[in-house]
Amino acid sequence: MSAQIKTGQIETVQVNLAERSYSIHVGSGLINTAGDYIAPYLKEARTIIVTDSNVEKHWLAPLQNSLNSHGISSEAIVMEPGEKTKNFTNLEQLVCKLLNAQIERNTVVIALGGGVIGDLTGMAAAIILRGIDFIQIPTSLLSQVDSSVGGKTGINTPQGKNLAGAFHQPKLVLCDTDALKTLPIRELRAGYAELVKYGLIADAPFFDWLEKNGERVLAGDQDAQRHAIVKSCQAKADVVSEDERETGRRALLNFGHTFGHALEAEVGYSGTLLHGEAVAIGSVMALSISERIGICPAGRADRLRAHFAKTNIGYNLHGNAGTDWAAEKLLDHMRLDKKVADAKLVFILARDIGDAFITNEVNDSDILATLNEALEQSGN
Ligand SMILES: NC(=O)c1ccc[n+]([C@@H]2O[C@H](COP(=O)([O-])OP(=O)(O)OC[C@H]3O[C@@H](n4cnc5c(N)ncnc54)[C@H](O)[C@@H]3O)[C@@H](O)[C@H]2O)c1
Ligand SMILES: [Zn+2]
Repeated sequence: MSAQIKTGQIETVQVNLAERSYSIHVGSGLINTAGDYIAPYLKEARTIIVTDSNVEKHWLAPLQNSLNSHGISSEAIVMEPGEKTKNFTNLEQLVCKLLNAQIERNTVVIALGGGVIGDLTGMAAAIILRGIDFIQIPTSLLSQVDSSVGGKTGINTPQGKNLAGAFHQPKLVLCDTDALKTLPIRELRAGYAELVKYGLIADAPFFDWLEKNGERVLAGDQDAQRHAIVKSCQAKADVVSEDERETGRRALLNFGHTFGHALEAEVGYSGTLLHGEAVAIGSVMALSISERIGICPAGRADRLRAHFAKTNIGYNLHGNAGTDWAAEKLLDHMRLDKKVADAKLVFILARDIGDAFITNEVNDSDILATLNEALEQSGN
């Protein structure tokens, strides 16, 4: 189990991976005081920060000021925001910029941004000089509860999302709840769906807590946010500590994702449907197919739907009217997904809320019926 330490308003989750272990600090004020946390990890009095232009506006200066106050100089590389940034061209440019900045084996790079910056910077750090240290300062809710933890880095290729990458664990993660104040509300809600995922996979009491406190998390209540992020990071840290390279249990983290990826693929990763929104819909579908095949008591999908409705998380396909949704097409996307093992689709199903498991024993007829039901409920 991951250890949890509480000092004042900052809580710490430990990811236990022998010599690759690291701490995740969660709380308010972490960017403003980042130098205190980062200085011990630096072997020279300088660092390079990679960020995107949205995050730069709000959070680059506070980070640099804090580093400066510790005598640490920093230069920044600012990327374009958005998923399209995660490609080979930008990876090449970033690697070259870092090398031009006279990077050495002991230089530490900081990723300041959402999952796009974290994945791209992490991959650059994994390959530069065969691997240099990097620190994650995730600024979106999704990156704080998911992508900054666990060491998966990567980019997209014309063949699909995240198909080129490397496992490269960060040395430290700072999740500052203050950063969420400048995050657009739609992005906050999308990240929330990933957070609910941890309750659905293995922590029914956390789901109960979210039912009572989810609105506080979304309204910016810092105590609620810190608690929710700590619970999520702990859940992910526990899974990653057991199965760093996803040979088994780590696949549980894909709850709702087989369906979700199919929806994203259908709209062409266009931003019409954010990843977290697709995961919200996919999570309801995962419970609904579990009920359909008789392994989960009735009413669980409805309970999740009600929670997403209460917290204003888009849980159906309303608002995506431009797409001609069809169950068969979605099933085709699933078959093209990289998680197809031996031509069988891998699903994460649930015996109940908080009790998910991995299987490849799902019939096409049940998948199609579940998709059709979801499409009907969305008025398609
Ligand atoms: N490595 C992993 O294990 C893992 C896990 C899940 C997702 N991911 C990846 O994460 C990415 C999605 O991450 P994301 O949702 O953070 O996307 P993102 O990095 O694109 O951030 C979303 C948007 O919010 C903006 N933003 C971020 N923080 C902000 C802040 N504090 N204030 C204002 N604007 C801010 C960004 O500029 C961007 O426009 C995907 O590429 C996905 O593949 C990786
Ligand atoms: Zn996800």
